[in-house]
Formats: sequence, structure tokens, C-alpha cells
Amino acid sequence: MREYNLDRIDLRSDTVTQPTKAMKEAMMASVVGDDVLQDDPTVRALEEKIAKMCGMEAALFVPSGTMSNAIAIRAHTSPGDEIIMERTSHIYQYEGGGYAALSGVSVALIDGEKGQLTPQAVAKAIRKAEGSLGHYPDGTMVCVENTANRGGGTCYSQDNLDAIVATAHEHNCVIHMDGARIFNAAIKTETPIDRMLRNFDSVSICLSKGLGAPVGSLLVGSKEFIAKASRWRKLFGGGMRQSGFLAACGLFALEHNVARLAEDHDRASYLAQSINKMNGFTIDLDSVETNMVYIDSEMGAKKLMHELANHGIDVLDVGPTAVRAVVHLHVTDEDIEKVIQVFSTLAN
Ligand SMILES: Cc1ncc(COP(=O)(O)O)c(C=O)c1O
Repeated sequence: MREYNLDRIDLRSDTVTQPTKAMKEAMMASVVGDDVLQDDPTVRALEEKIAKMCGMEAALFVPSGTMSNAIAIRAHTSPGDEIIMERTSHIYQYEGGGYAALSGVSVALIDGEKGQLTPQAVAKAIRKAEGSLGHYPDGTMVCVENTANRGGGTCYSQDNLDAIVATAHEHNCVIHMDGARIFNAAIKTETPIDRMLRNFDSVSICLSKGLGAPVGSLLVGSKEFIAKASRWRKLFGGGMRQSGFLAACGLFALEHNVARLAEDHDRASYLAQSINKMNGFTIDLDSVETNMVYIDSEMGAKKLMHELANHGIDVLDVGPTAVRAVVHLHVTDEDIEKVIQVFSTLAN
């Protein structure tokens, strides 16, 4: 589905997706209210739908994934607590240190395999003030990211998730999923999200990535948690008024753009296998499970980015020799063939 206003093949992220004609029509047809006054029926419908899909009680529509995670941390913790997560996780790497600035918590980092935690590593990382003569902070929240973006877009196995949830709860920690791309994981592992999230305390889900909505994320959890979260959303400046127009895009995305994520995964896999055969480029094929391809390049990331850009292809550099290409709903089979062809001219 090209439906995109640029000639370029933009593989920088799945966040570049734009509303399609059908999504815009759904937006135009939506009935809206004032969501801060709690009477926007389209926002209500979206929140109710996602809560039901997650097998949880309630949800809150928020402007971004970053805000959703920030609100979750603020609502689940008290200043002086510690949260536990993987070193490459988005919350730690790319959310401006919001956990420290907005919630006053410290972080215990775990070096995972392909961006993923294990129950053993989580158990080892949780520190408690009690029994430490007050030396330690209180580890009270564990965060997992599924798919794990910097892990390559990898998916947790259900057994691992279940074991991490059990470990967190045994240690009196809440467990939150940064499920920015939870539907990529659900499609890849063929797991309904309510099963995936069994016994999780909260999840943040992005609508504006592979699902193709222009703006918005959903924070989902118990009624009590969402009531607290709603207050923090207001305080963080995330209360929106006629946000039903955006919620309508989210509802459209949930109805039409979930199953098709499998196409993005197939294209990413084909792209990765093709480039990995070329001299000068290396890809860890095992980590290409969903829509992301991390490419290591002998010519260096900046030069590769520049060369590709000259051919109308945009990727992001994520290290001195690594670039990331993300497949999404505007990327066609023809686009993938063109990218492979351009890479072949750059191979040595
Ligand atoms: C795993 C993950 N979590 C959270 C976010 C934050 O989302 P947003 O850009 O909407 O703030 C992103 C954004 O790319 C992400 O990849």
C-alpha cells in the first residue's frame, strides 16, 4: 500500500506512516466531545475496545508512547524507588531520562540477549530497602519491551514472559510492558494479546507505529491504576480535548491494520536475507523476527546512509557501523526490490 506523499522509500521507522484515505474518512466521520470533560464517545470506544482486547479493566488514550510509559512509571512508583529494565530498552535509552526527572526513580539495568530479560536476571536485579539498613532503593517495578526494538524487533516467548511476571510478583514488584509494537509480537507469535499480557499490571501500546495512526498511544491496566494514570496525564499536560478525531484513526487501525503486519514481517525477512548474502554487509538473521532489519556495514553507517539517501532510500544510523531499516505499511514489494538492487551496487 504506497498511499504516501513522498517518492522516497522511508525505512527510518514505522513511525513515519501516514493516515491512508480510508483512515482519514473514518476520522472525518467520527463523533467527538471533550475528552478532558470525559464525554468524547470515540475516545471512550477506543479505550473500551483496547481494554477488552488486553483482558484488562480500563485504558487511557495519551499523546505518545513516551508519555504513556512516563505515566505508568509515575502511577506505579514513589520517588526513591527503583525500576528494573534491559539496558537497550526505549524507556532507558530514548525517553530523555523521564523516569528520573518525572518520577524520581533510579534504574537497575540488565544486559539481556537480543534486548530481552530473563526471570533469573530480574530476580538478581531487584533490590529492596528492607533488610539493607536503608542502603538500597526499593525495586518496585519491572519493565519489559515487546517487541524489543534494539534487540532487533525480537519477540519474547510466552514461557519467558510468564516466568518474568511471576518473578516480579514474587518480589512484590508490579510489571509493565512497553508494548509499543505488541501487535507485531502478537502476529509473529500467534498469541492473542490478552494471553500475552496475563497477570501484567499495565501495558503501553502505540497506535502511531506499524498500525499507521498519526498520533496516540494507549495505557491499559486496572480501573484503580487508570484512575491514577488519568490524574498524571493531566498533570503532564497530556489531557486532550476533541481527541476523538485521533481515536477514530486508532479504532480504524485496530480493525484494519493488525493482521497485515505479517506482510511487513515477510518483507523484512526477505530484505534481510537478500542483503546478508552481499559482501560488506552483515545481519544477525536470527534477530529479524518482525519488521526491523539492523544492518552492519563495512563502509560505516554514515556513509551507507548517505549513499542510500542519494538513491531515494532513507534509513537511520544506530551506531558507527550499524543502520536500521524498518518495514511498514507504505513499503511495497517493488520498494523492497529497489532497496535490494541499490544495496547490491554498494556491496564490495
Ligand atoms: C519500544 C518503544 N517504546 C516507546 C516508544 C515511544 O513512542 P513515541 O515515539 O510515541 O513517544 C518507541 C518509539 O519509537 C519505541 O520504539
